[in-house]
Amino acid sequence: MARETWGTRIGFILAAVGSAIGLGNIWRFPFQVSQEGGAAFMVMYLAFIILIGFPAMLAEFVVGRKTELNTVGAIRDFAGGYWQYLGGLFVFIGFVILSYYSVIGGWVLRYILGSVTGGYAATESAAAYFGMVATGTDTLIAHAVFMLLVIGIVALGIQQGIELGVKVMVPAILAIFGILAVYAFTLPGAGEAYAYYLSPDIGYIMQNWQSLVPAAAGQGFFTLSLGMGVMITYASYLGDDKNLGIDGISIVVLNTSVSILTGLVVFPILFSAGVDPATSGPGAIFVSIAEAVLDLPFGRVVGLLFFLTVAIAALSSAISLIEVVVSYAIDEFGMDRVKATVIAGVAIFILGVPVTMNTVFINLYDILAAQILLVLGGVLLMVLVSWLHAGEAIEELEQGIGDLGSIGSLWIWMVRVPVILVLLVSLYLGVTGYID
Ligand code: PHE
Ligand code: NA
Repeated sequence: MARETWGTRIGFILAAVGSAIGLGNIWRFPFQVSQEGGAAFMVMYLAFIILIGFPAMLAEFVVGRKTELNTVGAIRDFAGGYWQYLGGLFVFIGFVILSYYSVIGGWVLRYILGSVTGGYAATESAAAYFGMVATGTDTLIAHAVFMLLVIGIVALGIQQGIELGVKVMVPAILAIFGILAVYAFTLPGAGEAYAYYLSPDIGYIMQNWQSLVPAAAGQGFFTLSLGMGVMITYASYLGDDKNLGIDGISIVVLNTSVSILTGLVVFPILFSAGVDPATSGPGAIFVSIAEAVLDLPFGRVVGLLFFLTVAIAALSSAISLIEVVVSYAIDEFGMDRVKATVIAGVAIFILGVPVTMNTVFINLYDILAAQILLVLGGVLLMVLVSWLHAGEAIEELEQGIGDLGSIGSLWIWMVRVPVILVLLVSLYLGVTGYID
């Protein structure tokens, strides 16, 4: 049977955008911003997205499109020998990230329910409601429901499942968040929130760069779904003559817009309700949004729309995480797609079970997978592409664009030095930071 491909180029771009926009933008981003100095973090993050994230994304694209294989096969084909274990690392990271990502996805489903039934208004406090949602049997059930949605979409295939899904989901995310941003603009705290969020303090950046750099780089990689083979896998379903540069720019611009939009929605809501945005921990966005919307006009509708968008965004990322595993099983073992998806889904569900019992596992899984392995995987892949196979990489990028001349070398040198340097520094600061 012929290997699957995207039906349209837009389908590929939307799938990649859907992968990028997710809990990273909505659950992780606002609290990175508030913990790392508001607008100062924004400046660093935007710089990294453009200077580090975009070149790294192109590197993943060329490996995927050139080989038209899953991440293990792709790296083996591209580089040979032991490098295929890097692909194995990517598959492993996909397992780990999706296992806790899905538990949080389950929380979001419960908050949708809570908005409909008024559940989080009925408990004594927003924090108490989160306590109920975070762990226990119902959490396990919600995790199972979220994984079933993921399995259902991916089992239908690239065109009938993922592509069709993202064509509905990505426009829905943009539309609902656009409406919410307009609503947030009308709130009394909007002006104060915009000032906090959008006017950077350069002095702060100079003094705090040691914590800003790894936070912004980690967030940049996580949000663009880099460092674990998603973009290799998605690009492997492309035909030949696509302009990867334009595709990459579209994905980066759309994902960044949603991150900025998230801030324009979240901060006015929090400031208007007098909720401190700097509360930390995995429950922060849930507790503070639930608390805030209760005091605001049309609160429950706003809560419902907000959590609905988060659920859609999480789902469109989750399908990309499992697709890394599924495409590996299909290409390497000749497994049937439905069977591969069910087996991978059940295994990921089981790995997520501890997370449904105690939220410390979220931190554990997140630090291991998202902050250490993702960056490690990223560094190794960037070395492979830019130092060991630069010629092939540039040649592949030029397919569908034409002769790039010095832009090709500029790209390779961006990856060779600044990208790798920032990732190494972040890895060092990240690992040493968690050891103390
Ligand atoms: N980019 C996704 C988000 O922001 C998370 C993700 C990371 C998805 C890595 C795939 C791979 O939520
Ligand atoms: Na994202």
